[in-house]
Order: sequence, then C-alpha cells, then structure tokens
Amino acid sequence: MAVIADNCPHIQVSLIDLNEDRIKAWNNKDLSKLPVYEPGLSHLIDKNRNKNLFFTNNFKQSISEADIIFISVNTPTKDKGLGAGYASDLKWVESSARTVAEFAKGHTIIVEKSTVPVKTAELIKKILSSSQEDLKKNQIKTFSVLSSPEFLAEGTAIKDLENPDRVLIGGEDKEAIEKLSLLYQNWIPKNKIFITNLWSSELSKLTANAFLAQRISSINAISALCEPTGADVLEVAKAIGADSRIGEKFLNAGPGFGGSCFQKDLLNMIYLCRYYALDEVANYWEQVLLLNEWQKKRISKLIIESFFGTISSKKITILGFSFKSNTNDTRQSPAITIANDLIENGANIYIHDPQVSESQISMALKNPPDQKINSSIGTWHFTKELKVAFKNSDAIIILTEWEEYLDINWNEVSLLMRKPSWLFDTRGIVDSKIIKKTNLNFWKVGRGFNT
Ligand code: UGA
Repeated sequence: MAVIADNCPHIQVSLIDLNEDRIKAWNNKDLSKLPVYEPGLSHLIDKNRNKNLFFTNNFKQSISEADIIFISVNTPTKDKGLGAGYASDLKWVESSARTVAEFAKGHTIIVEKSTVPVKTAELIKKILSSSQEDLKKNQIKTFSVLSSPEFLAEGTAIKDLENPDRVLIGGEDKEAIEKLSLLYQNWIPKNKIFITNLWSSELSKLTANAFLAQRISSINAISALCEPTGADVLEVAKAIGADSRIGEKFLNAGPGFGGSCFQKDLLNMIYLCRYYALDEVANYWEQVLLLNEWQKKRISKLIIESFFGTISSKKITILGFSFKSNTNDTRQSPAITIANDLIENGANIYIHDPQVSESQISMALKNPPDQKINSSIGTWHFTKELKVAFKNSDAIIILTEWEEYLDINWNEVSLLMRKPSWLFDTRGIVDSKIIKKTNLNFWKVGRGFNT
C-alpha cells in the first residue's frame, strides 16, 4: 500500500487493521519501531504518511469511502478441523468480507491480495451477495471481486513492487478490471499487466510458489549429492543456470526454504490435488516439502556427528535466525528446526541476528532464553555482540546470509574459539581458501567437509 500511495499521490490509501497496537506502531514517529523491517519501507512511510497514506482503526469510514478494497490478511495453514495441516484457514478473509459487506456504500471493487486457495473469490462473492438479501432497495450495494495476487519477496519487497515482472488481474467484470489496471498503470507498464480468469489468477500464485520451492529442493537435493562425490554445488548451479531454459536465479543451496509462503502454498496445492483425486500430483508436490524437511534434519545430524554424537554442554553459535537476509521474519525459518535439534541434544546455543529480537526467537523456539528446562536438554541465549557469540565457542553455524557475516575475519574468530573448532556454512557464503589458512574444521553446503 505504501508503494501505491507513493506512485499515486492523487489517490488516498488507508490501511486498516483490527489490531490497535499494530496501527499505533505503523503511526510511530520513530521509524525504527515500525512493525516490519523491510529495506526502503520506512522511507516511503516517512514520505507519504498522513499525506495520502493513512493507518487507522476506523473501519466504517475507510470502507464506506473506498472505491477499491484490497484484502491482504493472513491465511495460515489450518491446525484443526477439516483439512488440518494442509488447507488454509480463511477465517480472516471471511471476516474481512463480512466487514466490507457491512460498511461498503455504492459500488465497491474487492481485490483478493492474500494468497488463497483456488475458488476463494467464490466464497467472498457469496458472503457479499448474501449480505444484500435483507437490504431495502435504496440501500443496495454492489461489488466486483477480482484476484490480484502478490508476488513480492521479503527483503526486496519495495524493489519487486516498483518494478514487478508481471501483475495479474483475474476476474470477469471488465469495468472493474480496467479500473484496477489503470491504478497499476500509474507506475507499471501495461504490457506487464496480465488479465486472466479468476481461477487462473489464484492458481498461478500457488503454482509460482510451488515452482520456486521445487527449485530450492532440487538444488538442495543436488547439494547432498555433491558432498560425497566431490562436486561443488556452486559450480553445478553456475553450469546449469547458464542454460537460458533453466536460468541462474533461485539456485542457491541452503539449509532449506523458510518463510510464511512456500510451505503453506505447497500444502494448499497438495490439499487441492487430493480433493480432485489427483493423488500422484499431490505426492509429487509433497516430495518438495519432504526434501526440505530432510535438508534441515541432515544438517543438524551432520553437526552432531562431527562431535561424535556429543554436543551436550558444548557452546554452539548460530549466525542468523531470520528465514533469509534483509528481513526480521522468522516464520518457518530453518533456524528453528536446527536450533531446537541442537538444544534437544544438550547444546548451549548462542544466537546472533542483526534484526530478529530475543522475544521473537523465544516465541519461535517455544522456549525462554537462558533457562535449562531440564537437565537433559540444553539452553539458548541471545546476543547482539558477535565477539560474545564467538568467545569459547566450539562451533559456529551460518544459517542466514546476512551481509555482515560476509566480512568476518575467520582467522581472528578461530583464535577466540575453543579447540577443536568448527565452522558450518549452510549458505555457502564463506570462501574455502580463506578457511584453509585457519585452524578451523569446515563444512560447507554442497561441498562437504574440509574441502
Ligand atoms: C516468496 C516468493 O519468492 C514471492 O514471489 C512470493 O510473493 C512470496 O513468497 C509470497 O508468497 O508472499 P519470500 O518467501 O519472501 O517470497 O522469500 P524468497 O526469496 O522466495 O525465499 C524463500 C526461502 O527460500 C528463504 O528461506 C530463502 O533463503 C530460500 N532460498 C531462496 C534458497 O534457499 N535458495 C534460493 O536460491 C532462493
């Protein structure tokens, strides 16, 4: 919404949320306290807030005045009931549609922006039309429902929104499509705006994320094959990426994909396939997820085995807790599984991350810091000081590719550590030649031990 406001000074953009604290945080004068860390976002908020960009709890006024409403709410995987573990929970989409139905006036275009299962627009339409049944003639409201899924990635969100590869608009109402297209055309060239039917638009979003996730599982599978065979996954990725049919992007082997979307969208896809009795297709996509889980577990296991199965009371330093760099988001971060595996095996973990807070980590690990829950499992601590994290550490594990980890002087670090000391690079960002000049034992994803 900040990008729309920035590119359309003639349009008023209001962001509404049930959560008052969140709205307060978005209105905070101190831009470092915004609820989301995203490069470039605070600048846009600073430039446009209270000019044509407003953050408010006033549902009634904002909805009744709006010509276009974007529903951008959370659609987490259901944890109970029908489809638990696979299907998306649409309760927030549903309650948003009900609120819009209550307060809208005249004709309103509803745009589904959240990632949703195919046919969600149908649900929104049903809610909107049933809200009309009891109204008197002079109160009649009309709605058009469009799908326009979001393709931005966290960490590069502003850049992705300013210059998208494409924008999708799915729907049937030509007038509404034209109106939304004209809004986007304020900064996006018309040839990048694709018009499709509703279901193609919704399915394209799931498919894009499924293909991207599949690419990561594919390169991670190859990383595991590189390690015992002596191949280097970076060289393999470069070689295959030079084939223009494959392309070079999204071929970085790592500890497994995280984030709020890939797993959820794959689960949705699997659920949809099973619903239509396409079990082989469902199994195909499920394998992408299984491989992702396996990659995380394989990394925890090889770390533990490097210490001959005993990491109890060893100090292990984790560099990076967010699911990727340039975000403070920890949802589905591979760091959660790997840190928990090490804690379960008795390790004393020190976690460093430039943007993630101690309380976020505590929520993600479902454990408070600095406390031994029982004598058989380990503890975790948080530090903002790299030196504190490195001092007397037995092992360092790089889990997020933050820029500041690229400049670490590994020779100096090795002198601070307890011997024998280990470095595990799950992101493939450390130059092996530099490590050879230190006394560190080294493992690198897709390359293996001490190579
Ligand atoms: C992803 C998609 O890239 C967006 O297009 C989509 O809009 C978004 O989901 C969404 O549905 O909201 P995001 O999850 O923010 O975006 O981040 P990605 O850059 O896709 O990274 C996802 C995970 O894959 C991260 O854990 C990242 O470290 C990992 N990854 C990515 C790799 O391990 N290797 C790569 O080569 C690329």
